[in-house]
Amino acid sequence: DLSPIDKAKFVAAKQAAEYVEDGMGVGLGTGSTAAWLVKCLGEKVAEGLKIRGVPTSSRTAELAREVGIDVISLDEAKWLDVTIDGADEFDGNLNLIKGGGGALLQEKIVATASDQMIVIADASKQVETLGAFPLPIEVIPFGWQTTKTLVEETLVGLDVLGRSTSLRMNGEAPYYTDEGNHILDLHLNRIGNARQLSLVLNQIPGVVENGLFIDICDVVVIGHGDGRVELRD
Ligand code: A5P
Repeated sequence: DLSPIDKAKFVAAKQAAEYVEDGMGVGLGTGSTAAWLVKCLGEKVAEGLKIRGVPTSSRTAELAREVGIDVISLDEAKWLDVTIDGADEFDGNLNLIKGGGGALLQEKIVATASDQMIVIADASKQVETLGAFPLPIEVIPFGWQTTKTLVEETLVGLDVLGRSTSLRMNGEAPYYTDEGNHILDLHLNRIGNARQLSLVLNQIPGVVENGLFIDICDVVVIGHGDGRVELRD
């Protein structure tokens, strides 16, 4: 008895789990949709599927172990057959915004080290143009306020509609990623040129990585509340 949104996430995850075959190295995403995927894979492992999973966050690592998946590090795996992960937004070119859950850095490293990246999402994540969802960027704590100013200055002259940035908080304290960094959320409303924005942001010294995934995703599995599933590739 799932709510329509959970049903949509579940059916997308279940469908994507069918891509996973015996012997594969699998990147395991982070977030509520990816959590369904990890549970689906856990059931398949219980039925005899042999895989090794590389989690993209401490949260996913914990869940994967709980459901019986053999968890290894990316350095042990070196390269993966497939990564399956959620997204905050995807557009018609399968470019993404990720990092709403704060795991964008490990997610991007793992997805890039995979032959294939499959995104699982409910239909609400589909957009015409990226940017309504605030773009997360991971920044080094040292000098983060200076980095924030540099980011805001960099946004001037770029094809975006908004320029305000906010430090992600965890209650009263700044949020820390698994890599010990902070997250700045960029309220851009509309990103006209995602490729350019991604390149320019990553040139700022205090910026470690940004949540734009350009040309990384190969397939989006879209789930609907009534149980229908669509593929975009
Ligand atoms: C985690 O850092 C994010 O990139 C998630 O993939 C994204 O926030 C999607 O999460 P949900 O599946 O919970 O919407």
